[in-house]
Amino acid sequence: MNFELTEQQLAIQETARKFAQEELLPGVIERDEAGEFPMEAFHKAGKLGLIGLPYPKEYGGQGLGYMEYALAVEEVSKVDASFGISYSVTTSLYGGSVWNSDATDEQKKKFLPEVLKGECLGSFGLTEPNAGSDAGGCITTAVKDGDDYIINGLKCFNTNGPLARYTAVYALTEPEKKSKGLACFIVDRNTPGVRTGKIENKMGIRCAQVSEVIFENCRVPASCKVAMDGNGFKTAMKTLDCGRIGVAAQGLGIAEGAFEIAKNYMKERQQFNTPIAKFQYPQFKMAELSMKIEAAKYMLYKAATDHDTGKSYNQSAAKAKFMCTNVAMEVTEWAVQFMGGNGYMKEYHVERMMRDAKITQIYEGTNEIQQLIVGGALFR
Ligand code: CAA
Repeated sequence: MNFELTEQQLAIQETARKFAQEELLPGVIERDEAGEFPMEAFHKAGKLGLIGLPYPKEYGGQGLGYMEYALAVEEVSKVDASFGISYSVTTSLYGGSVWNSDATDEQKKKFLPEVLKGECLGSFGLTEPNAGSDAGGCITTAVKDGDDYIINGLKCFNTNGPLARYTAVYALTEPEKKSKGLACFIVDRNTPGVRTGKIENKMGIRCAQVSEVIFENCRVPASCKVAMDGNGFKTAMKTLDCGRIGVAAQGLGIAEGAFEIAKNYMKERQQFNTPIAKFQYPQFKMAELSMKIEAAKYMLYKAATDHDTGKSYNQSAAKAKFMCTNVAMEVTEWAVQFMGGNGYMKEYHVERMMRDAKITQIYEGTNEIQQLIVGGALFR
């Protein structure tokens, strides 16, 4: 077992770290307040090669793996977890919907490069008002009409929804077969009949734009169908396995970012003429949190390595997502607590990180769904 990162992985980590400090840290508090996505920074991340890390070069990627991608998502999320999720949804969930589907080479070359080069965002349309944890309960339909399909339905909680150039839409082509009748279409958002619905006003990840995406007689050519009739659900599930590695990396980054801020604060902050880091209770709690962060990190790197070495990563991704996001919540709560009144104030960053951490336990499969995936496999 090798615990060392390669020279190339260390270089990517350093690139993402520098990018986060230079492009994401300035204005992160103001963007959180205003709910603004840093699109220019996204384009820069694309130019640096971060967005397409785990895809082959001929489709606009870098020909590397999920390990490199997880390192990059971890670094950006230490500073701006909103950017982390918009990035992860674009790369894992939009990109994965094409990559894990039946897409032909021609379709991959049409739908991947622009997004993987960071020229535009992608989004993932699976969730509906009555199909959350029960993802197979979608009712959006795509009815064949000559050489086209007509899509009708509403996707909600769509990350990047208002800004994405392309959305992967899971829709029933054979409604009578329920989840076994799902296909997946890539819809250019400039197509007539698709529009952004309600834009959500959220507790956290406020710079990431989340909305409804509404389809009203949206006509798309059959060449937009990437997962064939009946293959949509499995494509979505495989894609979510990838996405959970991204969310785990986001959670780990949030935990590490908040831990570092609290640690530095505790060394400086004096009470009773003593830095609070010297008191045994905070020191022991920080020791415990550092161990949990390290354990979560190895679970994430294991899942990414499983992905990159062609092993099954369904279980390791679910475990990493559960652990990293729970650690993110625990660490950020303690960071706020140890920093007291200051921790509760916006300029110290950790209150934002605590708000951002909460959603990581909910999206891309709640942590209870991760327990269901792991528990189900234990007793299958
Ligand atoms: N890979 C490949 N195939 C899979 C699979 C996987 N990971 N998981 C299940 N399947 C297959 C099964 O083998 C089965 O195939 P057969 O019919 O051939 O036997 C089929 O799919 C159905 O499987 P299940 O019976 O297990 O399906 P289910 O309806 O019971 O659902 C579930 C399982 C795990 C609960 C699933 O619905 C799920 O993951 N729910 C959570 C949904 C989710 O994560 N939503 C996130 C939305 S996206 C989001 O949050 C993004 C954002 O914007 C940030």
